[in-house]
Amino acid sequence: MCGIVGYIGNSQCFPILIKGLHRLEYRGYDSAGVAIIDAENQLKLCKSRGKVAELESFCQSKDVSGTIGIAHTRWATHGEPNDTNAHPHVSADGNIAIVHNGTIENYNVLKRALMKHGCEFKSETDTEVLVQLIQYIKQNNSCTLVEAVTESLGQVVGAYAIAVVDRNTPGTIIAARKSSPLVIGIGDDATYLASDATPIIDYTDKVVYLNDDEIAIIKKDEPLRVITTDNKPSNIDIQTLKLSVSQLEKGGYPHFMLKEIFEQPSTIEDSIRGRVVNNRIELSGVNLNRSKFVDAERIIIVACGTSWHAGLIGKRLMQDFARVPVSVEYASEFRYSNPVISSRDIVIAISQSGETADTLAAITLAKKMGAFVYGICNAVGSSIARATDSGTYIHVGPEIGVASTKAFTGQVTVLAMLALAIDPGTVEQLSKDIEALPSLIKETLKLNSTIENLSSTYTYVHNFLYLGRGYNYPSALEGALKLKEISYIHAEGYPAAEMKHGPIALIDHELPTVVIAPNDDLHDKIISNIQQVKARGGSVIAIVTKGDKAIKEIADHTLEIPKVAECLSPIIVSLPLQLLAYHIAIKKGCNVDMPRNLAKSVTVE
Ligand code: M6R
Repeated sequence: MCGIVGYIGNSQCFPILIKGLHRLEYRGYDSAGVAIIDAENQLKLCKSRGKVAELESFCQSKDVSGTIGIAHTRWATHGEPNDTNAHPHVSADGNIAIVHNGTIENYNVLKRALMKHGCEFKSETDTEVLVQLIQYIKQNNSCTLVEAVTESLGQVVGAYAIAVVDRNTPGTIIAARKSSPLVIGIGDDATYLASDATPIIDYTDKVVYLNDDEIAIIKKDEPLRVITTDNKPSNIDIQTLKLSVSQLEKGGYPHFMLKEIFEQPSTIEDSIRGRVVNNRIELSGVNLNRSKFVDAERIIIVACGTSWHAGLIGKRLMQDFARVPVSVEYASEFRYSNPVISSRDIVIAISQSGETADTLAAITLAKKMGAFVYGICNAVGSSIARATDSGTYIHVGPEIGVASTKAFTGQVTVLAMLALAIDPGTVEQLSKDIEALPSLIKETLKLNSTIENLSSTYTYVHNFLYLGRGYNYPSALEGALKLKEISYIHAEGYPAAEMKHGPIALIDHELPTVVIAPNDDLHDKIISNIQQVKARGGSVIAIVTKGDKAIKEIADHTLEIPKVAECLSPIIVSLPLQLLAYHIAIKKGCNVDMPRNLAKSVTVE
């Protein structure tokens, strides 16, 4: 979703802004732009529809000199992706430029009011309303830029991260946030600004995460100042990033997605490290809050997309091992469902990015209603990690590919450990099973070339069905989501036994079915489901445990995975599902790392 970069210092800012925008490309966007203030305090604006590379070539013939600038990648919300709607937006007098992430819900009311005062608008965006409002207030109240920004934000309903420059306020960037992330990088003689730390890591590891309702006043030759929207000074907490540039590169793989799939032996090792101790699971977040977990009447998991699928597996794990009732809610539904929550409830929020707007809103609601909120996040220092009462990081490193892969397996691994940690007994066999995961993953990834070959058979089908049971019903949902988001093939995931209640009508020789059928308690039942598909002329790709002769005889293709504990099998079966989606999408010529219309972190509702 939209990305912000800013720079103020002594170097030419254009290359720094462009490199930063490239770093944020993974978030998903459809246009990009920069605004630069030069040595004569002139405001230079360049923006265009399309990729950052197109903006770069568009700017080649332009004067982009200057040492203060803001830049943006836009993921369209208000108005189609075009040059006019791209950010930065500039006030009618041409003095003030703004970049904005988020949505201004009352933009129409504000726009109408400004139009009555003679304001004219060029774009369809909510963002232009904000910059016109800032200009209007600054002009009419004869106030400073920071006062005008503060006053304007007081009139705004919605979510925002903004950066503002003004040719009449030289040497200054004003930044502010509410529900949309902003990180400030403190360099030796420069200050950086970005939606996440990835554009900053090349220059400094010292960062300040702006909090909701805070405004940063970033000046060229003065220390950073942060105030609240009600004009009180804020504490500046400088943190040290634990992120390396190599983690943000492809490392020889053609795509981030493939790199991230193949990283899983080591990312799962990182998730487990220090947490399996003498046949027990030690999670500091649980140890420090044991009474909350012991007293919990129920657990409610809130999440979106792939993280929600991980939550479904988490439900089963916690019911099986911690024997506590668990429900799993889409965060976007939970927040509007008038939920019944008490202080004896634990709400677990799962999010890779830690910035998903719906999940963040669900957390705010749950906390307001007295629940103890536990986060399972990947992005260290993210909004969700900071908004929750406690939690466990999955520690799989930055996930750049839009399709979540290593974060999913990290989430399920952490959920398994969480389920076992809640009941503090020794779990000898299961802790060994968890420790064995990295080598099982490595073995499973050997299926890569088989799946690459198999994908040719299915490149041009229009629909896919995914079936699974028990622990692997959520795997079916996840397999289908992975395929549809990167290959644009319609795919549905179903609990295998539900097929006969409707989806069976779809089955014919044109509809392939992926059946997730490892050797578990429901193995015989799933064999019947495969037979039902075969009896209707459907083809079957089955994911089975090594040596499964029964399914090999009836399925069209089998992908053999190593034997694994049933409760951990979703981690292993997700690998062939990820690879199948990847290879089909590649054969179709799709951009797997940045699929159309999708954003990596969904920071709007
Ligand atoms: O960052 P989050 O885990 O909160 O993101 C939730 C979903 O937006 C995300 O999982 C999405 O469904 C992915 N594109 C799936 O691959």
